[in-house]
Amino acid sequence: MGTTMHVLPFSGSPEDSTSNAFDKIISISPIMQQIKNEARLISRGTSNVLIMGESGTGKEILARAIHTESRRRGQFVKVNCAAIPETLLESELFGYCDGAFTGARRGGKAGKVEIAHEGTLFLDEIGEMSPGLQTKLLEVTQDHSITRLGDTHPRKVDIRIIAATNQDLEKLVEEGKFRLDLYYRLNVVSFKLPPLRERREDIIPIAMATIERFNALIGQSVSGISPEAINILEMYHWPGNVRELENVIERAMNFVTSGLITPECLSNYLIQRVVGLNNDTKDSQQADNPFHAKLRAVQKQIILDAIELAKGNKAKAAKMLGISRSTLYEKMKA
Ligand SMILES: Nc1ncnc2c1ncn2[C@@H]1O[C@H](COP(=O)(O)OP(=O)(O)OP(=O)(O)O)[C@@H](O)[C@H]1O
Ligand SMILES: [Mg+2]
Repeated sequence: MGTTMHVLPFSGSPEDSTSNAFDKIISISPIMQQIKNEARLISRGTSNVLIMGESGTGKEILARAIHTESRRRGQFVKVNCAAIPETLLESELFGYCDGAFTGARRGGKAGKVEIAHEGTLFLDEIGEMSPGLQTKLLEVTQDHSITRLGDTHPRKVDIRIIAATNQDLEKLVEEGKFRLDLYYRLNVVSFKLPPLRERREDIIPIAMATIERFNALIGQSVSGISPEAINILEMYHWPGNVRELENVIERAMNFVTSGLITPECLSNYLIQRVVGLNNDTKDSQQADNPFHAKLRAVQKQIILDAIELAKGNKAKAAKMLGISRSTLYEKMKA
């Protein structure tokens, strides 16, 4: 099947040697290379940026890299719009002045917008922002100033906003849940990070970088990944994307006995999901995907391994894999 074992040192990104913040974003897929190149180009500017992508695809790591390479003097200030109730989010973002409300801190408090002056304001989960706050944020982007709660005089702020969302903002706009004018303000430059299953060539480079990181962190000496484990990692559908991959590798490293991550180090869940993949329409649409034939071969091999472990008892093998007997027969034929 042409899979070779990967052993450290492993160079996943054939890029130039000038080190910068984007190097932390490991990728060899053309789509991610393109995103990184564009992000490099726009990082020095001041345009607002919108980053879309499923959970765990790297929205925050990209936002931080853009900030770092922007050379803006101010800080990277992160606000999670989904984690904070609306009333708190308002004072968190815009701050308040002395006596703005009971319990307000003496002398008032600067909001995150002010703190991000000359820096970057990273608004995570922007799709969750309430209509009222969307309006206030729109004013900030138009007037380049903010007024603290309870205050009368506006303060000038120079901020670049990077907003992130795992929702379909355009759809939210259509549904009237997100202001179109704010959408335009934020969407000056936009990036759509593809899920990991749509750039499978990045899986092993990221896995190897994760091994390297944990080796250094906890003094382990895992040297790589076996070809069988590589097959499974490349075939899994990664609903949690890179974050899930990092967790799987961290977990697997606990079970390494031979220096390599092998299928035995991976959770049964992962293996079951790879073997049990239904031949649904989505799957067959991918028939010309180069991974498709490989997937079938990997599924078959895992099943044969299980049957061997079960000493030829197919019912037992199916049970071990958590799939039905008919699925087992079907996949063996493939
Ligand atoms: N291409 C990559 N190379 C190396 N590490 C990555 C890459 N993409 C993501 N990561 C890592 O994966 C984890 C998840 O990334 P990040 O927090 O940026 O995702 P996110 O899109 O903001 O997720 P969420 O929507 O859940 O907040 C982080 O630990 C991040 O450093
Ligand atoms: Mg995030």
